[in-house]
Amino acid sequence: MTEGVQTSQTADFTPRVFSGIQPSGGLTLGNYLGAIKRFVDMQDQAFETIYCMVDLHAITVWQDPEALRRNTRELCAGFIASGIDPEQSILFNQSQVPEHAQLGWVFNCVARMGWMKRMTQFKDKAGKNAENASLGLFGYPALMAADILIYHATHVPVGEDQKQHLELTRDIATKFNHDFGVDFFPITEPVIEGAATRVMSLRDGSKKMSKSDPSAASRINMTDDADAIATKIRKAKTDPDALPSETDGLEGRPEARNLVNIYAALADTSVDAVLTEFGGQQFSAFKPRLSELAVDKLAPISAEMARLMQDQAEIDRILARGAERARTVAAPILKQTYELIGMVG
Ligand code: TYM
Repeated sequence: MTEGVQTSQTADFTPRVFSGIQPSGGLTLGNYLGAIKRFVDMQDQAFETIYCMVDLHAITVWQDPEALRRNTRELCAGFIASGIDPEQSILFNQSQVPEHAQLGWVFNCVARMGWMKRMTQFKDKAGKNAENASLGLFGYPALMAADILIYHATHVPVGEDQKQHLELTRDIATKFNHDFGVDFFPITEPVIEGAATRVMSLRDGSKKMSKSDPSAASRINMTDDADAIATKIRKAKTDPDALPSETDGLEGRPEARNLVNIYAALADTSVDAVLTEFGGQQFSAFKPRLSELAVDKLAPISAEMARLMQDQAEIDRILARGAERARTVAAPILKQTYELIGMVG
């Protein structure tokens, strides 16, 4: 075994959280409830927290350069406005820390073609036109594993849609450790928790709320004003029945379940508690209450995002400082990885 390389068991790693969001368009309510709100919770627990705008992931599909720059800064503003403190957490954009791409290459050589071909998100994103998808889109999950493991992160909060990528991350860590006879990379724990791990489209309860959905009415954006939020919730698809009093009653009612989940997540309460309060009521009564709650929680965030966006130089300074701090963790781990695999240097 190479001298000086950490060989402790997974449980002995420093409790450290990593997660990332693509700056590939506006932030949605799905990103907020499924990810950022959870990031804030974990920041306030006993973890080191590292949060990243994954711009190298974003370019796996075409991005207009000006829009990418703007979206990266706006995402940074979204993190801060939602409660991420750039002093307490490390906050940066991926391309400023080259160790991600460097370890990503190593993992391209660890991951197997068969594993990658099973990734459902590639199939969804590439669609019928897979021959024309970028090679980067296919290799995306290996870079994602590198994002996490370059920090020896032990916990990764994400929405439900990222579960398969985190299983692949564990497979890559396990294979690397096995191939080189070490316990070098931790077997990371996915953290997929809370009432809103899968926020669905407001127009179709069987589809995920997504920034790439062609229908603007399908999603709430973090930059929407109070009127837009209220209109989208009023028009959200529902069914004709009243809300049930128990969770079982949401079975087979995806739109109803979605709105109740959103309410519970925004109010920091459980689905049971929401149904105890609203069971038996019609959507005509529930929707205005949901709108009120959403505006109450989201309007201060969008106002703060707009304020922060007025000082782009400050945002750029925050990202540069975050990247510098990130590199102090990532560089020694890359160096040890290179030593383990036999690079001279
Ligand atoms: P991305 O940018 O698509 O989404 C960012 C985060 O938001 C969550 N999310 C949702 N949660 C609930 N309901 C929804 N409708 C919804 N839509 C999005 C996602 O699950 C995610 O947590 N591959 C990642 C980015 C990434 C990453 C990483 C994440 C790159 N490297 C390392 C964690 C660790 C992605 O495309 O997320």
